[in-house]
Amino acid sequence: KKVILAYSGGLDTTTIVPWLKETYDYDVICVCVDVGQGKETDGLEEKAIKSGASKCYIVDVTDEFVENYCWPALKADAVYEKKYLLGTSLARPLIAKVLVDYAHKEGAEAICHGATGKGNDQVRFELGIGALDPQIKIIAPWREWDLQSREDLMDFCIEHDIKVNTRYDQSYSRDTNILHMSHEGLELEDPSIEPNYKHILRVTNALSETPDEPEEIKIDFEEGVPVSINDQKMTPKEILMFCNKIGGKHGIGVVDLIENRVVGMKSRGIYETPGGTILYRAHEELEHMCLDRETFAFKEEAAVKFAEIVYGGKWFTPLREALSKFFDETQKTVTGTVKLKLFKGNMILTYVSSPYSLYNAEIASFTTGDLYNHKDAEGFIHLYGLPLRVRALMRMSAEEK
Ligand code: ARG
Ligand code: SIN
Repeated sequence: KKVILAYSGGLDTTTIVPWLKETYDYDVICVCVDVGQGKETDGLEEKAIKSGASKCYIVDVTDEFVENYCWPALKADAVYEKKYLLGTSLARPLIAKVLVDYAHKEGAEAICHGATGKGNDQVRFELGIGALDPQIKIIAPWREWDLQSREDLMDFCIEHDIKVNTRYDQSYSRDTNILHMSHEGLELEDPSIEPNYKHILRVTNALSETPDEPEEIKIDFEEGVPVSINDQKMTPKEILMFCNKIGGKHGIGVVDLIENRVVGMKSRGIYETPGGTILYRAHEELEHMCLDRETFAFKEEAAVKFAEIVYGGKWFTPLREALSKFFDETQKTVTGTVKLKLFKGNMILTYVSSPYSLYNAEIASFTTGDLYNHKDAEGFIHLYGLPLRVRALMRMSAEEK
């Protein structure tokens, strides 16, 4: 009997390997899904085998993550509760997809994940797996075992002759990929405590460490997605990496949020999304130029819904897929160039242009032209304001009575 374990090499998944063998007598196959978490995948295979796994796959799906998960969110301008760019939420369905693929490939009957019973990630993994193969059994050790603390986990490993790094000291609950890094837990659970950013942040400079000179970035978009930076064509992954670097340097995209989790509780987290924040801003500025009023307004509403769907783990659903098609359609003219100056956590717009611009300086300017006749405004205002005047007349006659 085989089980696929969503493996990261951290204390939790290291403990889960012997626990699965002991509790279920499973042959444990570790799968580490690389969505751009960087160095974290070094030496992983050896570590997995040492913990008792029979195999360890490291599967790099970073390109797919950027193109098929991050870019659709960018086209939608999807933001959860006005602040969170969904870095973790977007990666979970793709991880679920890879786990299901490997379960099929290996003929495994179950998939196991290390998410706790209190969070969103368990929901996302399990909805994702269920949508792709409802027959696969799901095991969530954190909802089954009675280990409570990091000390309990370390003791369990030591009892099972697995070397653990004693530097698994108290640290934040973190999740990272090419789009973002999240930090939760410890003193952050108290919203009255100001985060010590110098200590917490990993990809973004604290403001005290950012350059004293602004730096400009030029981004070309084609149909809603970035295609080149500073006149250099790059792959989606390269673009996000470049933006992370320059955004991180200038302290862009740090968010401190008390959010509503799917399971009902509020939680407080710090997010670093330097590159994503730059791209969202530039993209939106281009949309201001290229989209008509009603499309823009409707899209804004749909983006709120889209973000809720993604946050709630419902990526593989008819509504999410249909909304993505809608957003794609709106992006057909979102092509052009945006420049932003980055400075001390701020982004200042300096340039927008597009072959599909709906902004017409001749109409907007104060000198009279052919397309806009000032006199037309009079009749327009009359009709536009008719309901207001009707109501005022009604009130006046009511008062007389
Ligand atoms: N609160 C964020 C979310 O729900 C981040 C979760 C991070 N996950 C983790 N296992 N540390 O998307
Ligand atoms: C977890 O509980 O595993 C992390 C936090 C979350 O999923 O929201």
